[in-house]
Amino acid sequence: MTENELFKRINAIAQSCDYKIYVVGGFVRDKILGKPGKDIDFVVVGDAMKFATVLKKELKIKTLVQYPRFGTFMANYKGYSLEFVNAREESYDFNSRNPVTKQADLLTDLSRRDFTINTLAMDISEENFGAVIDVYNGREDIKKGIIRTPLEPGKTFSDDPLRMMRAIRFASRFKFEIEQDTFEAITKNAERLAIISVERIQDEFNKILMADVPSFGLRLLEECGLLKQFLPEAIVMKGVEQKKEFHHKDVFYHTLEVIDNLAKTSNKLELRLAGLFHDIAKPRTKRFVEATGWTFHGHEVVGERMARAILKRLKYSNEIIDYVKKLVRLHLRPMALISDEVTDSAMRRLLFLAGNEFDDLMILCRADITSKNPNRVKRYLGNYEYLLKKVVEVEERDRIRNFQPPVNGQEIMAIFNCKPGRLIGEVKKFVEEAILDGEVENDHDACIKFILDNKNRFE
Ligand code: CTP
Repeated sequence: MTENELFKRINAIAQSCDYKIYVVGGFVRDKILGKPGKDIDFVVVGDAMKFATVLKKELKIKTLVQYPRFGTFMANYKGYSLEFVNAREESYDFNSRNPVTKQADLLTDLSRRDFTINTLAMDISEENFGAVIDVYNGREDIKKGIIRTPLEPGKTFSDDPLRMMRAIRFASRFKFEIEQDTFEAITKNAERLAIISVERIQDEFNKILMADVPSFGLRLLEECGLLKQFLPEAIVMKGVEQKKEFHHKDVFYHTLEVIDNLAKTSNKLELRLAGLFHDIAKPRTKRFVEATGWTFHGHEVVGERMARAILKRLKYSNEIIDYVKKLVRLHLRPMALISDEVTDSAMRRLLFLAGNEFDDLMILCRADITSKNPNRVKRYLGNYEYLLKKVVEVEERDRIRNFQPPVNGQEIMAIFNCKPGRLIGEVKKFVEEAILDGEVENDHDACIKFILDNKNRFE
């Protein structure tokens, strides 16, 4: 079903209820940008909840998700994701985000939306099908690439402070500019983000991180003071100097470059988060040593702890937290392997520690090279290529990445004729270390023999 067929059908149903209905928001904006999506918002001038009942029956939709308190309902239909809402006016309590809504006409509804580019409505009635209602010059702002609020920006942001982050999200996504008054109002109201739930902040932040060029939004977040509200630890990286050899001078801007590099090779949010946190502890661990200059000893260990605490505070999932912790902890290892004589056993250990995240760790290491010296970049990348080749060799031989001890507890109990207890763990650890050191093959029979040969050590 084409969208026009869908609109005509929905309009006919609205007409049968004596309601007017319009397509609004992101769909109209994206259509003008030449990228109409499948998520479509409608405004019902009438009773949206009554309309829900009629629509469900007419379109034979099995389930609708309804929020009568907010006068809104959602439905999936023929590949489209539809959201309907009463034309409304919202008023807000200064300290909370829970709006009191009352029905209003279309124009009042549009005036209470976040940005001019989102205030467009499309008429889908028979008489005016396709006509765009554009009270706030939204089309012109789309053409010029400008994010601005339809009302006085202080009012729009005080109604819903999350909109300050949305401004930056839209600016990054479309590479638009935030109009000066709007940006100044964000700077002035940044602290109001405090009344927004962490879940909503995280959601917007993720979208900013997932832009093609994440640094665009991250810079803006920092400039207007929003980043400080939920991620003050990142601000501290600003101005922290480091060796210029393979890094950018300032840790904050180096971090942004790393995230942009990651965005070129991967679509994983968690990898971009790992990029964000890989040097987070540099400010805390910075010391000046006469012979070498600035050092950041242990920043990967402190960084792992900081990443955990921050991601927990921002309510990321345990899977994401574990992933980021691992990459932050290990991000220096591959480089260290290159500077040492690479032994098979060192490589085995890295593969064992990184497990399934090994490939992502290597992507992070490559992205971490932000030197402006092309020869140096070439040399570092070449080093990683060499390391990867060696890793493939070790891996083919040893199958170490998803390492599972080849000997189980039952077998160890049988060999030592003992009951479950500490000994089992000790023997397993002993075998594991021997495999990683290359003393015994990662193979069941070889390991049993190895335990038998070393049995007296445990007796
Ligand atoms: N809106 C708003 N203030 C918010 C959230 C939403 O004014 N805090 C309005 C905007 O008019 C927006 C519409 O509700 O266009 C739908 O919101 P949403 O689906 O979040 O945004 P879209 O503009 O559709 O963007 P996306 O393409 O990311 O879904």
